[in-house]
Amino acid sequence: MQYKNIHLIYFSPTHTSAKISYAIAEGLEAETLSESDITCEGLKEPLLIGENELVIVAVPVYGGRVAETAMERIRMFQGKDTPVIPVVVYGNRDYEDALKELSDTLVVQGFIPVSAGAFVGEHSYSRKDMPIAAGRPDKDDLFKASQFGHDTLKKLDDAGCLSKLPVLEVKGNYPYKVKGPSTPQAPVTDEELCTQCEYCIDVCPVTAISIVDDRMFSDPVLCIKCCACVKECPEGARTFDTPYTAMLHKNFSARREPELFF
Ligand SMILES: Cc1cc2nc3c(=O)[nH]c(=O)nc-3n(C[C@H](O)[C@H](O)[C@H](O)COP(=O)(O)O)c2cc1C
Repeated sequence: MQYKNIHLIYFSPTHTSAKISYAIAEGLEAETLSESDITCEGLKEPLLIGENELVIVAVPVYGGRVAETAMERIRMFQGKDTPVIPVVVYGNRDYEDALKELSDTLVVQGFIPVSAGAFVGEHSYSRKDMPIAAGRPDKDDLFKASQFGHDTLKKLDDAGCLSKLPVLEVKGNYPYKVKGPSTPQAPVTDEELCTQCEYCIDVCPVTAISIVDDRMFSDPVLCIKCCACVKECPEGARTFDTPYTAMLHKNFSARREPELFF
């Protein structure tokens, strides 16, 4: 089965999910690539993607589930027996029910999962003094992602048509893990370092940042703690202080590898 176009859909505030999705696409060797980057904005109208395209949906894991903002935005895409590769990227702790949640949701929306993967990306809370999966996805991860794309292509070729594929099983449970209560909190700005370039405003996926009384203000109720503003600030003026960083650094430093499902 040859697919001329690969359609990438990703929500990726700190770019790790996007990087993995591009590496997978490379292995799929398509003639053309189109993308729906739903990080900073969702679609205004529903989009139907036909059966002649192969879709990759890549999202981060938040609390063992698909990041909520990503899930809301993914619901705007509709398939028509469209092949899809659901992909979750997590910060080396665990992805729990996220891959199953993503895969199940895409089935309901008319997609047919053909393979799926859970990959590791640098944790949003990783810091220089307390690294958590720092620098990932690295060369090895990207190679595995590309190979995964290649192997998916082979699986599709061997099957000949989608209706011959058995239903894809991925790791995870239903009912999905219940999300814990989230305490409103947002990164803070060091006013000495901040030049008010407003780049943080541009990269925030949920427009939680604005200028109030001539200072950067992050609304803790809107903030999803993705840390895009922390990692992207050109002056290093933003920090997000959470006890999770030390806990994750201490307990989840042993390297985890991608888990792939065919
Ligand atoms: C609010 C929040 C919750 C997270 N929960 C988890 C988790 O449950 N397990 C895990 O391993 N990583 C977790 N992470 C880390 C992200 O999944 C990881 O950094 C991912 O690579 C981010 O994807 P992105 O670069 O595409 O934004 C969490 C990050 C945030 C911001």
